This record gives sequence, structure tokens and C-alpha cells, in this order.
Amino acid sequence: MTYLTCTSSILLALAIVGAASGGAEKANSGISKKPFGKMPDGRTIDLYTLTNNHGMRVAITNYGGIVVSIVVPDRNGKPGDVVLGFDNLEGYLGKEPYFGALVGRYGNRIGKARFKLDGVEYKLAANNGPNSLHGGVQGFDKRVWTAREVHGEHPALELTYLSKDGEEGYPGNLSVKIVYSLAEDNALRIDYSATTDKDTVLNLTNHSYFNLAGEGNGDILKHEITINADRFTPIDGTLIPTGELRKVAGTPFDFRKPAVIGARIDADDEQITFGKGYDHNFVLNRSGAGLSLAARITDSESGRVLEVLTTQPGLQFYTGNFLDGSIHGKGGKAYGRRSAFCQETQHFPDSPNKPSFPSTELKPGQTYHQSTVFRFSVNK
Ligand code: BGC
Repeated sequence: MTYLTCTSSILLALAIVGAASGGAEKANSGISKKPFGKMPDGRTIDLYTLTNNHGMRVAITNYGGIVVSIVVPDRNGKPGDVVLGFDNLEGYLGKEPYFGALVGRYGNRIGKARFKLDGVEYKLAANNGPNSLHGGVQGFDKRVWTAREVHGEHPALELTYLSKDGEEGYPGNLSVKIVYSLAEDNALRIDYSATTDKDTVLNLTNHSYFNLAGEGNGDILKHEITINADRFTPIDGTLIPTGELRKVAGTPFDFRKPAVIGARIDADDEQITFGKGYDHNFVLNRSGAGLSLAARITDSESGRVLEVLTTQPGLQFYTGNFLDGSIHGKGGKAYGRRSAFCQETQHFPDSPNKPSFPSTELKPGQTYHQSTVFRFSVNK
């Protein structure tokens, strides 16, 4: 056998083995990293892109653990970015409404910016009227996380952060780990875990703003949504839950069957008035622990479908009511009112002040675990 024939037989054999094990297909799947910008103090921030073999790409930065882009194909296979955001770090350093952010220590609101734990009152920053929103002035969305690429079965990015005792008013040194991973069924999975050295409260979520027609491509009023919830938590005029778990039946909050988002968004209803549209926590119908389907959203134009699965008890459905076109995002596009919707899987807002809600307490020796999956597909 000549050297050439020998080499080609080896290559051929490798190609056959590769194809049989799916190795040839794996060519595109992986993680890449590039600079995303610099913090005012000079620290370098990176952008990591997870790619699978089915046309999906997710970019995440270690600044705030922010999901910067999610590119998925439409029904014709045409890729489109389905989340609002900015092209560079600078955009995220300015005033912006938590686009794609990893929110903590407490997602959504804590009433009157205070809570009691073990008889001690903890005071937080009132950064949303009288209330504390999304972890305070400098929440997890504004912190620099330590990133580690994980090359396992699926490309994944691990982000870790130590939130010191007293940070933003919360007790306990809290060690947090988030893993974003991208599977071949076009599912972006987020696994959250945390431990503390003192009793504390915790409610982590992701604040992606989705538009299945593509970011910057009009409003989401024609999208159809199903939410697997018989009840929601009505709010007062400052968006704090009253404590009631109200049936959705007969209200604009009944999404147990698919309904167009825009159909009842301006209904003559006190709850709709308080939220200026949908900005409410739904009590998910769950059976046992583990991931279960919380919501399904479809866009008939692009054919894109988003399914949200979670281990959490609640889902904040927010329809971008406070966006007003003044923020210019990717490619300079203006993001208008209701140009996106959020699916913030979470514990209920103000739980630390609502003993009847599922507890958000975390104690030393316990490990917080929650997972959420955003799974994309198309309707043909
Ligand atoms: C809140 C909204 C808020 C938005 C951006 C949502 O989780 O419920 O009221 O405007 O986040 O901060």
C-alpha cells in the first residue's frame, strides 16, 4: 500500500465511524468566545456563543449573565434573532429594562423594599416607587460573573458569582452558579443553583424579551399564548400581589386555551389597568417536582413556537408595556411599546412578605436548585 492510499483509507474509515456516531454532524456544535467590551474600571467582558447543529445560536455575556441573542430558524429555515438587546456592552451599561438579564437576588418586587426574616428586618433599595425591583440598584444583572466553558454532551456556559453578605441589603454570603446549555432540540436550558452561609431569601430568573417574529419587527400582539395556570396573583396599584390567588376563569388572564395576546390586553379590567397590560404572575398548574410545561407561544407569520418549561411555581408574563420606542437596540432599531414579551419563571413576587406563598427562604446546608427551558420549534 502506498503512503497516499494508506492515508486515504484511514481518512475514509474515520469518516465512516464519524458519520455513524453522528460525529460528522457535530462539526458546527460548540462554543466560541469574543470580546464584548470593557467595564468603566477596565475589566474585559466577553461574549460566548453556544451553537448546535440545528440552526440555533445563543450568545451570552458574563456581564450580568445576559442572554444577548437567540437565533433560531423560522418555518422556511431562515434564521432570526428573537430577543431584544444591544450589539455591544455599552448598550447594557446604560439605562435599560433588564434585556436578557439574569435577575437576582430577588426577581420582581419586594413590597415597601423591606422584609423580615428570623425576626430581623432587612431594608432594601426602593428602586421602583416604594418597592424593590429585580435585586436592587446593582442586582445580579449588573455584576461581572466568572465564566467557564463546559464542553460536555451539549455546549454549555457556567457562570459563578459570590454575592457578599449585605450586598443590596440581603443577608448571607451567597454563592451562585448558573449553567446555560444548548441542546440539539433547540432548547436553551438554564440551571440555577446557590448556597448561603446565613438564612436568606432568593428568587432567580431570566428576563429575556422575546419577539418570535424577530427583534425590532413590530409588536407581539398577534402572537398566541397558552399559559398552564388556573390562577394568578392579582396586584395593587404598585404591582405588589395582594396575597389572593384568583381564578383566571372569566378574566382577561384566562390563557388555558390558546389566545391572541392582543385580544384582551386593553380590557376594561382593574388588573389590566394596574399592569398597563399584562405584568402579572401566574400560579402554574404543576404535578410534582421536575420540569413541566408553563407556557407555549406561537407566531403564525414566522411559524416559530416557544415552549417554556420550568421547575418554578410561578411565571411573570410581562408584555413590554413600559417600552416606548426611546430605547434603540440592535442595529439601532427602536423598541416600541409591546414589541416583546417576557416569560420570567420564578417564585411569586413579594413572597418574603407573604407567608401563604411558596417560601423563597434558603438556609445554610440547603442548595437552591431551579431549572427553566426555552424550547424553540416551528409550525409548518
Ligand atoms: C416587571 C415589570 C418591569 C419589567 C422591567 C418585569 O419583571 O414585572 O413591571 O417593568 O420587569 O423591569
